[in-house]
Amino acid sequence: MADDSPISAPGAIRAVTSLNNTTIKEIRALALPKYRKESGLFVTEGMKLVADAVEEDWPIRILAYGAKVANHPIVRRVATRTHARGGEVLEVTDAVLAKMTRRDNPQMVVGVFEQRLMPPSAIRPSPRGVWVALEGIKDPGNLGTIIRTVDASGAEGVILVGDTVDPFGVEAVRATMGSIFHVPLARMTTGEFAAWRKTWPGIVVGTHLSGTEDFRDVDYAKPVLLLMGNEQSGLDDGFAALCDHLVKIPQAGRADSLNLAIATGVMLFEIRRNELKLT
Ligand SMILES: C[S@@+](CC[C@H](N)C(=O)[O-])C[C@H]1O[C@@H](n2cnc3c(N)ncnc32)[C@H](O)[C@@H]1O
Repeated sequence: MADDSPISAPGAIRAVTSLNNTTIKEIRALALPKYRKESGLFVTEGMKLVADAVEEDWPIRILAYGAKVANHPIVRRVATRTHARGGEVLEVTDAVLAKMTRRDNPQMVVGVFEQRLMPPSAIRPSPRGVWVALEGIKDPGNLGTIIRTVDASGAEGVILVGDTVDPFGVEAVRATMGSIFHVPLARMTTGEFAAWRKTWPGIVVGTHLSGTEDFRDVDYAKPVLLLMGNEQSGLDDGFAALCDHLVKIPQAGRADSLNLAIATGVMLFEIRRNELKLT
């Protein structure tokens, strides 16, 4: 089909070479929070990540790939599934890939997916399930790393509380290494969280530099809601008051605290210690 044709017919692959193509500009705009908010879409890069997401039936709107990988079996399969879901498939030049991803060395496959958040009422932890609540997290790399770590530890989901960075931003999505498609996310205001917390069936554990309990001394054999504080100011007093335990990870050396994502990882692998086994 001709470049910049408005809509591709079902099953058709549209070849795009123009840097001024409207769809390419729209994909590029998804790097900006405003357009992600308006459209409810986000971008993922990389053949494996896009293929995994499509295999899991995550709703894909656009698949774009470089002409060099057009005959790769994974690309062919993902293209077929994208069409089956009513999405659009674009075969593009390296220059177009670089423009839409704002990268000098772009990945050869890009997917545009619908954002998905779980409603708080649907959160039902399993008997030893762990959910992580992040209060006011600001750093996209930290958020992506935490989502990846939640996935790796077998925890069940992440709740974003208050004013936080967007989990569907490019940097956060990259840092998840694909776990954005596997870890349920929910969002709540601080007021909603305080009310919802009363329904939590297990214990609520906050991490705090003034915590008086060693994190290894708590009995985690029940659903655990783990509260992590903000990078700059730590866990807010109002949140600390919602906790059954305020724990500290003992430190040596002169650093006054751990990085938020590292502290979350240390906590998760302690809480999940008895569930994780080498096979
Ligand atoms: C970079 S720290 C925040 C430092 C902040 N200046 C403060 O006073 O809390 C970010 C978050 O990681 C967690 N954290 C970091 N180090 C910790 C430790 N040694 N024990 C418990 N939690 C820790 C806490 O949730 C903290 O709110």
